[in-house]
Amino acid sequence: MLAYLPTLGVLSASLFLVFLLLRRMVRTHSATAIFWHTVLQEKMTNLVKGKSRESRILDFVLQNGVRGDAKSVVDSIDKYCREQEWAMNVGDEKGAILDKVLEEANASTVLELGTYCGYSALRMAQVLKPGARLLTIEFNPANANIAKQVFHFAGVEDKVSILEGSTEDIIPQLKKKHDVDTLDFVFLDHWKDRYVPDTKLLEECGLLRKGTVLLADNVISPGAPEFLQYVRGSSRYDCTHYPSHLEYSEVEDGLEKAVFKS
Ligand SMILES: C[S@@+](CC[C@H](N)C(=O)[O-])C[C@H]1O[C@@H](n2cnc3c(N)ncnc32)[C@H](O)[C@@H]1O
Repeated sequence: MLAYLPTLGVLSASLFLVFLLLRRMVRTHSATAIFWHTVLQEKMTNLVKGKSRESRILDFVLQNGVRGDAKSVVDSIDKYCREQEWAMNVGDEKGAILDKVLEEANASTVLELGTYCGYSALRMAQVLKPGARLLTIEFNPANANIAKQVFHFAGVEDKVSILEGSTEDIIPQLKKKHDVDTLDFVFLDHWKDRYVPDTKLLEECGLLRKGTVLLADNVISPGAPEFLQYVRGSSRYDCTHYPSHLEYSEVEDGLEKAVFKS
């Protein structure tokens, strides 16, 4: 037995080094972080706990947030996602940039592409001026159901409406069915391969006016290179990049603001 001790020591040290390396990569490397958080960790925890990550976020909000206080709900979601498990909300760091850019836009009609649990919509609801409205589109019925409960608990239902369905189906209905003339601000935060087609759809449907602000999340991680190429290469947009980090991590990410000129 004693003869094996050096081998066991080397093995334990190697495993420990692999663990440290993996931990570092999850913190700083985009693909590893996303694979770990959204595939391995999420699926394993769902199996053990018998409910989805989104339901666990809702439970935490109901137990720790203050009914009718949107800020307390946002803070609860951030606490859960920093301390317990990662989730794909825009997060506190990029969220502060979202708040600032939306505030500067002085928007009356806001569209969000990708609601998830309603975190970013709740942030935006707090910045909106009286009488302004936010429409947020979500095609996953389970996520839309969680977001509805989050909005009800936070007391923002008078400002925020969830439109259930895909962006490609709902955007063309915005004028006639949802009484939108033009949009003042659009937050793009759905699947990244839809950023360009949906931007073009917004243009074709006449929903953008001179000065409409598009703000796109995750343009660096997981990345939206076609979107950056499209808006930066077009004379119709004025672009500004806001460097930041992937939600609840040290991985590099950023938001892109593209202001429609005409
Ligand atoms: C990154 S999450 C949104 C996070 C949310 N904006 C936040 O910060 O709290 C992306 C969401 O977009 C939804 N989604 C993706 N593609 C979509 C599409 N084409 N139409 C509608 N919803 C979509 C997904 O189901 C998911 O809930």
